[in-house]
Formats: sequence, C-alpha cells, structure tokens
Amino acid sequence: MSVTDAFDAVAGSYDQARRRLVPCFDAFYGTAVEVAAPPLRAALAAGRTPEVLDLGAGTGLLALLLSAAVPGVRMTLVDGAPAMLAVAAGHLAARGVPHRAVHADLADPLPAGRYDAVVSALAVHHLDDDGKRALYRRAADVLAPDGVFVNAEQVAGPTPALDRRYDEVWTARIVELGSDADEIAASRARMRFDRPATVADQCHWLGEAGLVDIDCFFKEWRFAVLGGRRPR
Ligand SMILES: C[S@@+](CC[C@H](N)C(=O)[O-])C[C@H]1O[C@@H](n2cnc3c(N)ncnc32)[C@H](O)[C@@H]1O
Repeated sequence: MSVTDAFDAVAGSYDQARRRLVPCFDAFYGTAVEVAAPPLRAALAAGRTPEVLDLGAGTGLLALLLSAAVPGVRMTLVDGAPAMLAVAAGHLAARGVPHRAVHADLADPLPAGRYDAVVSALAVHHLDDDGKRALYRRAADVLAPDGVFVNAEQVAGPTPALDRRYDEVWTARIVELGSDADEIAASRARMRFDRPATVADQCHWLGEAGLVDIDCFFKEWRFAVLGGRRPR
C-alpha cells in the first residue's frame, strides 16, 4: 500500500481524528494561516484574487482555515489521494470557495500559475530528503514576487534522543486527548511512510530554493511551521 492509498482509506474519518492526533492543532494551523495571509491580503487590497496552491491538501483542512481567514482567495489543491481530494472539494464547494482539485504526485510538475502563497501541511514529510529539496525549489519557482511559502510540518528531532522524546510526548498527549488503541495503531501504521527532516535542514533547503525571511514560526515538539518569502 502506498502513502496515498493509506490516506484514501481513511478519507471519510480523517477530519474527526485531527484534533486528537495534532495536539497543538489551533496554534499549528493558525500560525500557518498567519504566515500565509499577508500577500493574500495585499492581493485583495490591489483588487486581485489571491491565488493559493496547497500541496498535499488532503481533505482541505488548511485550505478551509485559510479561506475563512482571508475570504476571496482561489485555491488550487494538489494531492495523490483522490478520495481525500473529493472530501476537500466538497468542503470548499459547500463554503463557496473557488478552487480546482488536481490529482497528482508531489514529484510531478506543479500546476502552472503564479501563486501569492504556496502552503502545505503534514504532507512534505512523506517525501525523501531529495524530494523535499526539489519540491521547495519548484514551490519557490511558482511563487509571485513577495509570495510566501509555508509548510506546517512534522519534523525530526535534531538528535535521535530528542526524536524519541518527541514520540513519547506525542503518544502521551494523544492518549490524554482520547485516542484509543485502534486509532493509535492506525496512525502508527501510516507513520511507516514518514521521512521527517530537521528544522535546520529544511530551513537550509528553503534558502537554497531562493527564499528569504526564512523562519521556524512555530514549534511544539514534532510539529513545526516553516516558511519564507520569494524576494521581489
Ligand atoms: C497527513 S495528510 C495532510 C492533509 C492536509 N494537508 C492536512 O493538513 O490535514 C497528508 C496528505 O499528503 C498526501 N500525500 C502524501 N504523499 C504524497 C505524494 N507523494 N504526492 C501527493 N500527495 C501526497 C496524502 O495523500 C495525504 O492526503
């Protein structure tokens, strides 16, 4: 089974488990939205429809939060799991958010366009490190000048000991939040596909891709929000 098959299999129940499995849900997604919002608000102020590309959009969680925070955006969603994308398209259509859903692999050429923001949540860590670096370059290339890239991501600890600590803390938190044994086992089965990288490596790759104002805007154990801006 591939990673996208694994997500397709849980598309119908994915949303309900998110607040348990991402214990810092509000701050994590909320920070990603705030990092992405300035160029979108600037486009609206200039009388343009802001264009957003969401990589590994899944059921559209981040796209929905972003379109609620900045009404008027147009979303392009990319994902390799058609059932996840279908849920996302349904949510966005129900809220009247203009969008297109593109069934593609993250290694494929990105949908053509000039995006004010390229965003991603909990998807890039499924790529190997060369794939992440290449994707960061391609994401930077499709950004408009002053456009922002933001990746709300699951990261590796900087040392094996810290990585183990991240896992202990995450497991304790999700149990506190009500994850049962089945949910934890299913989540761990999906995590076999994870290839997280450290914050330091990923910020370096964002710089290699030509972005500036690179930062880790939020971090709580294994959950981090990284991003940067394409210079004018
Ligand atoms: C954990 S979900 C995150 C979904 C959404 N961004 C969110 O925050 O809830 C990861 C998503 O990335 C997609 N994905 C993983 N690897 C992919 C790849 N190589 N190409 C396309 N999509 C991929 C999966 O299908 C899944 O929908």
